[in-house]
Amino acid sequence: MTIKDRVEELLSKMTLREKIGQLNQAGTTMNCTLPGFEADIDTWVSQMLQGRLSKEELDRRLAMCEEDLREDEIAAGELGNYVNLYDDEKIARGTKAARENSRLGIPMFVGVDVIRGYRTIFPTPLALSCSWDMDAVRRSTQTAKREAWVSGVNWTFGPMLDIARDARWGRIVESPGEDPYLAGEIAKVQVREFQREEEDGCRLMASAKHFLAYGAVSGGQDYYTVDMSERQLFETYLPPFKAAVDAGAGAVMSAFHDLNGIPCTMDKWLLTDILRGKLGFEGFVVSDAEAVKQCAVHGAVKDEKEAAKMSLLAGGDMDMSSLDYIQYLEELVEEGEIEEEDVDRAVRRVLTKKFEFGLFDKEWAYDPKRICDTVLSPENRKTALDVGKRCAVLLKNDGILPITKGVKKILITGELADDRQALMGPWSFTGRTDTQVTIVDGMKNYAPEGVEITYIKGFGVKGGRDGFEEAYEMAKKADMVIAVAGEEAYMSGEAASRADLHLAGLQEEFLLGLAELKIPVAVVLINGRPLAVRCLQDCPGIGAILEGWHLGTEFGNAVAEILYGKYNPSGKLTVTFANEGGQEPMYYNHPNTGKPGSDFKFTSKYQDVPFTPLYPFGYGLSYTVFAYDSLKLEKEVLEQDESLCCSVKVTNTGSRAGEEVVQLYIRDMAGSCVRPVRELKAFRKIMLKPGEEKEISFQVPVKDMGFYNRSCQYIVEPGEFRVFVGPDSVSGLSAAYYIR
Ligand code: NOJ
Repeated sequence: MTIKDRVEELLSKMTLREKIGQLNQAGTTMNCTLPGFEADIDTWVSQMLQGRLSKEELDRRLAMCEEDLREDEIAAGELGNYVNLYDDEKIARGTKAARENSRLGIPMFVGVDVIRGYRTIFPTPLALSCSWDMDAVRRSTQTAKREAWVSGVNWTFGPMLDIARDARWGRIVESPGEDPYLAGEIAKVQVREFQREEEDGCRLMASAKHFLAYGAVSGGQDYYTVDMSERQLFETYLPPFKAAVDAGAGAVMSAFHDLNGIPCTMDKWLLTDILRGKLGFEGFVVSDAEAVKQCAVHGAVKDEKEAAKMSLLAGGDMDMSSLDYIQYLEELVEEGEIEEEDVDRAVRRVLTKKFEFGLFDKEWAYDPKRICDTVLSPENRKTALDVGKRCAVLLKNDGILPITKGVKKILITGELADDRQALMGPWSFTGRTDTQVTIVDGMKNYAPEGVEITYIKGFGVKGGRDGFEEAYEMAKKADMVIAVAGEEAYMSGEAASRADLHLAGLQEEFLLGLAELKIPVAVVLINGRPLAVRCLQDCPGIGAILEGWHLGTEFGNAVAEILYGKYNPSGKLTVTFANEGGQEPMYYNHPNTGKPGSDFKFTSKYQDVPFTPLYPFGYGLSYTVFAYDSLKLEKEVLEQDESLCCSVKVTNTGSRAGEEVVQLYIRDMAGSCVRPVRELKAFRKIMLKPGEEKEISFQVPVKDMGFYNRSCQYIVEPGEFRVFVGPDSVSGLSAAYYIR
């Protein structure tokens, strides 16, 4: 029987309530019976996310609560899917209830945020994108998939594909950065790898999220409103979703916010006309958590019942956590407000995916030994280290890195250097902080013979000047200082927007004081967003800055390999660093203005900061130097069905082997709509030995060089273009070509 026939056969046996149960996704509930604790679990989680409760303490309290797995609802066929259930033993119990106790035995989707690994934590998506290394992306995805799958998860709420151009938005940390092309490449790799079935059936269904343009929330304020032209939507925000849909993503998650006045979760134009009509999506749409009920809070409908109706009719197939579908859809059918066929359509989509992903035929077997052997295995940790070190970006280096042989006494300072939770970072709920390698651990693990490592807290994100003097005194006795600064875990991620992008608290003051001591200082930044660190860049006493983001479980070891020179840093920024938060959103692929920024007064810029970014998109230093020359174009005049074929010579002119990300940008010199000053169209990460030179060639189809015109039609306009090939988005070699 085909899947289609199996779906129809099953559907014909289902009651309306059982059908709606398949559209219902919920988490377990916790009954807090702890004496002496007035707070409820939601408050604790919120406190944890704000850094006011440690993850260990939260886990301790949760372990003392009673968890209701909703087995009765599952047995009644009213709950078809779990959300964010992290305990494998409980997953086994809940999913068994569906198979064995419900009338039709329909298996459950267990959806979890497998965003950056499962138990072994990998770099944040933003950090991962800075590797520009699709094999590293694939390997981290594969490890995450396996760890989650053995634990009973069969669906991930990822990849997150929101283009993020505004560093104030806390969720920039979860995004693949500001470029639609790079995000699309990452989307393809992640969707394919998550969904690729391995021999033993290991695979997760992927969901592309958050549909659409969540990264463009006004002012970078989370959950806020988005008002945007269709041209912009299609050109900048849609491409990564197209890539994910083309790669076969099983689900798409609708976003929380309102787009041009309609909450995404109940926007028929978005969820049906664009997603299904324009992109050809055939999977199912799940709402973001409680986003159905939030349509009523938006004020776009009068109550939750209407929210359920409008969401379903818009093309929202599954309700995550609102419980509005299970509460109201049956009534709505009885009242004739919706047809049973509207429910059936959504159920068909969900069941089809359950069949396609093998839930009916390849039952997951709960095997505690297999879980134990798989998660956090030495091999997985090795992958985490290897991927992690590829993602750090060297922003500044006056020659103090890598640490030289003469350096015998290293002082590490900064609370973050030894804070496992901060180092693990956001979106790592399934991670275990006790397995997190700190910067202090890593620097000790890799310290060469005779090198002494000392640690003193000195300063933190919070707190006063109490530790400054002692740290300065110790610094004076050291040959070099590694100062670790940035953000705590809760300062980026969901509901973690910041209006001020400077280092919080007294961190700048401490670092600038340290820089006065005339001892080599390297700053390691730990953060989820581009920060306004111009003062560090401009300060001669700060010799080096390494952007460490959050590199995962092996963070400390990855940083140590880079600082000691065992690994030559190769990450490049996938987001622009502005000089000040007031310049946000600042991004490289902006339209040209009639008065492009320059030193002349009457040009587009702010008076009080440079018009150029602090660090541009694509930027990142290496311990070696790469030279570019001989940009050659095979043809200068191209037909619409041809490709731009060009090559460039890249030479490692330094004395160390290293990797370079060779980037190709184009510019449409005159279009009927104003075009971006540059657009990334291709890239290649290459390894070169000292003195080695390689000719790198690219082929970019002309059909990919178009844009959406005034009538929102995609066209490639004839005329003059330029190609740029180089190490970042502001430099490189360039040549003109023409499209006919
Ligand atoms: C809300 C977040 O916006 C979304 O990204 C996530 O997948 C769900 N919660 C489930 O945890």
